[in-house]
Amino acid sequence: MLRTSVIQIIVIYFTQIQYLITARSPLGYNDRPIIGIVTQEASHHLRTTYNNAYSSYIAASYVKYVESAGARVVPIRLGRSRSYYEDIMNKINGVIFPGGSTNFTTRNGFFDTVGKIYRIATRMNEQGDYIPLWGTCLGFEAMTYVAAGDVDVRVECTGGNNVALPLNFTNNFNESKLFKHAPKGIINILKNEPVTANFHKLCVTKKKLKEVNLSNTYHVLTVNYDDSGLRYISTMEHFNMPFYATQFHPEKNSFEWATRLKGIPHSKNAIRVGQYFANFFVDEGIKIDN
Ligand SMILES: *[C@@H]1O[C@H](CO)[C@@H](O)[C@H](O)[C@H]1NC(C)=O
Ligand SMILES: *[C@@H]1O[C@H](CO)[C@@H](O)[C@H](O)[C@H]1NC(C)=O
Ligand SMILES: *[C@@H]1O[C@H](CO)[C@@H](O)[C@H](O)[C@H]1NC(C)=O
Ligand SMILES: *[C@@H]1O[C@H](CO)[C@@H](O)[C@H](O)[C@H]1NC(C)=O
Repeated sequence: MLRTSVIQIIVIYFTQIQYLITARSPLGYNDRPIIGIVTQEASHHLRTTYNNAYSSYIAASYVKYVESAGARVVPIRLGRSRSYYEDIMNKINGVIFPGGSTNFTTRNGFFDTVGKIYRIATRMNEQGDYIPLWGTCLGFEAMTYVAAGDVDVRVECTGGNNVALPLNFTNNFNESKLFKHAPKGIINILKNEPVTANFHKLCVTKKKLKEVNLSNTYHVLTVNYDDSGLRYISTMEHFNMPFYATQFHPEKNSFEWATRLKGIPHSKNAIRVGQYFANFFVDEGIKIDN
């Protein structure tokens, strides 16, 4: 009897060691990554369409986008307790703040949730963990809102809704984490072809970023111009943390097919750049924490 338990303990101990060794992975990175995607409040239109059956959702394209790069997805709910977010952040390898059309003002809504996660991720990264964040469209706007100390820095802009655009790279883009290892072909496509899906009526400018003292926090990597020539930020990354944000939607190119939306490019090159961003973000997520 005693012998059995000792053997059992040894077996358990051994399997746990095995597990730890596998978790640390001989590959030198985590090959079983999990990315959290924050849910969005359902818009009035969605609520009506589904007869008020749902109050929040995640667009399938974000899930497929993450899965296409070899990670699994968990949803992150809105309006939960601080311990819920602390707990989930310790179990995942990165977070995406998706696009949508919700208010800053909804209490315990999308923006509050982005704020909570942003602050937890900041602390975790400062303490030597490596946990990347990615904001797309409204998620990008929410990141600037939170980083600015809950200040809405957006301005109205035109010509950015339902349109595919190339990007204008800034001077030092090639020194960014996001683009420094990008194949030349990907940069050329992004520079010259309309491969980024834009669905926004509000923009964040460099001037606004400066006004809220974020110019030394976020590195602007690409800009676009609205119909009146207003220059706005289309890609940025945090100087010190693995935080990335795009005004455009890289997840749409491969996974959204509504024919009424002419702003979603499906060319071969558009698919390649969408995959570049997906792979980049999941590669950030699989880095083994210190
Ligand atoms: C946004 O807030 C306004 C009032 O502040 C409200 O009328 C509107 O329904 C809200 N929209 C959403 C999507 O929650
Ligand atoms: C922005 O990029 C587009 C596409 O490459 C180009 O036609 C345009 O001249 C650029 N604008 C500026 C101000 O550099
Ligand atoms: C980035 O490009 C500039 C020229 O635009 C060049 O001087 C610099 O060496 C490049 N940096 C890297 C890391 O490639
Ligand atoms: C602006 O941000 C820098 C850090 O990037 C900080 O040292 C400085 O105190 C900030 N200034 C104001 C006015 O908030």
